[in-house]
Amino acid sequence: MHPIVARDQLSPNVTRLVVEAPRIAEIRRPGQFVIVRLGEGAERIPLTIADADPAAGTISLIIQSVGASTMDLVALQPGDAIRDVAGPLGRPTDLIDQGRAVCVGGGVGTAVVYPIAEELHRRGVSVTSVIGGRSREWVILEDELRTAGEVVVCTDDGSYGRHGFVTEALRDLCDAGPIDEVFAVGPVPMMRAVAELTRPYGIRTTASLNAIMVDGTGMCGGCRVSIDGQSRYACVDGPEFDAHAVDFASLADRLTTYRSFEQEALARHEACLIPALADRLGDPPPTTGPVAGSAAR
Ligand code: NAD
Ligand code: FES
Repeated sequence: MHPIVARDQLSPNVTRLVVEAPRIAEIRRPGQFVIVRLGEGAERIPLTIADADPAAGTISLIIQSVGASTMDLVALQPGDAIRDVAGPLGRPTDLIDQGRAVCVGGGVGTAVVYPIAEELHRRGVSVTSVIGGRSREWVILEDELRTAGEVVVCTDDGSYGRHGFVTEALRDLCDAGPIDEVFAVGPVPMMRAVAELTRPYGIRTTASLNAIMVDGTGMCGGCRVSIDGQSRYACVDGPEFDAHAVDFASLADRLTTYRSFEQEALARHEACLIPALADRLGDPPPTTGPVAGSAAR
């Protein structure tokens, strides 16, 4: 069992859990992930290791609650425990040792960019992080990233930082001077837009792909992605790939494959949650309508 030692809310649907996992904390490297299972028979959830403290024997996991399983996970409180945490999995990020890097994080993808920016800074690389959210409350890890270099914050509605998508700020940086590598992590349309933007500049660009994962061992085929026309498995060959070689259209298609199952699971979850919530609050259960804050992927 892996006890939760701390929990905080980073944005309306993004939660950070600090979890005891001493062996993983000691050997993990940026870019790697774990697969967690909350209890016996629960869904396996792949989560990037956002941070680790080997002395305390803990890792930080940043979770966006989008479905039934992630809602169960973020409901955990310090003192509760996760049954299985398997990892570290995946290939560590192939990091440069000098020059200038731009780390682009869209929404919760910023959690994946953070350990990369931190390690690049530790190596002496000049790092600029460009992070985006729909509005101010959706921007995460700004203070943490400032310890690794300059940070440009963008919001879709202009409520904080620069008005617009992260790609608009990235374009200005590409025009301003040489960049040795761009890392992009976030929604598929964002990663695709970053790849198309950096291609004509000839800037090496790496994307971390959020493929659907089941076993995390290269055996089930669930996380298959197409790279330069070749099939690759995000869990063992990735999750990071040359963004200019990724077939983002097929990735987007595969991510929708299980949408109806996920929506069904969420509806079942809410059907249990509403009477339980009403019971706790002392109100009669509502007969229609979703639970506030729930969101299908
Ligand atoms: P979001 O939709 O709120 O977008 C976050 C930011 O990305 C926006 O503020 C904008 O700056 C940028 N962006 C979005 N669409 C863009 C486009 N078409 N062009 C340019 N920039 C664009 O993000 P969210 O809801 O926090 O993220 C959820 C998505 O991120 C999910 O689809 C999830 O699967 C994915 N995700 C990916 C990874 C990964 O490893 N790649 C990790 C975690 C989550
Ligand atoms: Fe099964 Fe990658 S998750 S092959």
